[in-house]
Amino acid sequence: MPDPNQQDLHNIHPSDLHTFTKQILIANGTSPPDAEIVTKCLIAADLRGVDTHGTNRIPSYMERIRQKALNPSAIPTINQVTPVVGQVDAHNGFGFVAAHEGMKLAISMAQIYGIGMVSIKHSNHFGMSAWLVQQALDADMMSLVFTNSSPALPAWGGREKLMGVSPIACGAPGGEDGKPFILDMAPSVAARGKIYKALRRGEKIPQDWALDGEGNRTDDPAEALKGVMLPMGGPKGSGLAVMMDVFSGVLSGSAFAGHVTNPYDPSREADVGHFLVAIKPDLFMSLEEFKGRMDYLYKRVVGSEKMAGVERIYFPGEIEMIMEEKRLVEGIPFAMAEIEGLNREADLVNVEHLIVK
Ligand SMILES: NC(=O)c1ccc[n+]([C@@H]2O[C@H](COP(=O)([O-])OP(=O)(O)OC[C@H]3O[C@@H](n4cnc5c(N)ncnc54)[C@H](O)[C@@H]3O)[C@@H](O)[C@H]2O)c1
Repeated sequence: MPDPNQQDLHNIHPSDLHTFTKQILIANGTSPPDAEIVTKCLIAADLRGVDTHGTNRIPSYMERIRQKALNPSAIPTINQVTPVVGQVDAHNGFGFVAAHEGMKLAISMAQIYGIGMVSIKHSNHFGMSAWLVQQALDADMMSLVFTNSSPALPAWGGREKLMGVSPIACGAPGGEDGKPFILDMAPSVAARGKIYKALRRGEKIPQDWALDGEGNRTDDPAEALKGVMLPMGGPKGSGLAVMMDVFSGVLSGSAFAGHVTNPYDPSREADVGHFLVAIKPDLFMSLEEFKGRMDYLYKRVVGSEKMAGVERIYFPGEIEMIMEEKRLVEGIPFAMAEIEGLNREADLVNVEHLIVK
């Protein structure tokens, strides 16, 4: 019997995927500039190996548009609260677009005043947080990127889905010899998107990722989706999930305390909140000195003594950067069932199919 984990994967070139994704977004009512933003964010996730938060999410996002749970043509509005604080109302548009505008604003404030803080309300899922960290890095900025999300994790000691598997991300520019620091991590043992991916691909999941509906450990992704994700580090992981809800939900005026809608549930608006901070790294020394110190940190980390059985130590974000270099050349691997799912979306709006070469 064939091993379901050894699926036949087909590589799609990023530029073909870009054209395809953008056309689908435009055909579903997204303006070309916004479609470009969403496409870039989704393909950035695919390139970095964060397959759970890339173009495979298109069918679920498009279903939200069809069911009028997400407005693809919403224009985010900005309220300048103080010289260093901004507020964005996403008006239930794409989280990618509102967060992109929010980070742009945070960066522009930080360039003048050293720091810029933006709270975003009435938004939607923005996928992989690292694209926002990268947006800040492209402007030589440090950043904090927080979001809340739909309930999936229990409060520590509970078994009810209450807190989101809400990622915490932050970054800092690296120097010429090192790599930028990009930490982007969900507070669960694994991101819930990895369970959806295993379900799509007919794969099993490790036993320590989730509990089933009865509160038992499971390796079946379908059963895991009926239960709760397990937080990383017990109460510490569930504490970080609460922190994401305080900064992104309570503070912004968006849904919180278990009331954000799951991106796979197209029946209602999601009302996600985000919290973004951009920080100028040369506030206390020159940028050159800061980057030199980052280089030193990078070398100290990756050059430190390895534990038994470890071949190489990586800086946070480095594994994804290596993956991106590889996929830019070799293409992005998709299972045939995933390509068929994307092509069904293409059929609905008369867009040409993704071709497997
Ligand atoms: N928008 C949402 O609601 C939402 C919810 C959950 C997850 N996500 C996204 O899902 C993605 C996956 O999250 P995750 O927690 O499963 O990521 P992960 O566990 O794969 O990685 C977490 C972090 O650890 C680093 N890392 C991993 N292995 C490493 C190693 N061997 N050495 C050094 N560093 C290492 C990575 O670079 C990354 O910064 C993230 O991009 C996150 O933003 C989004």
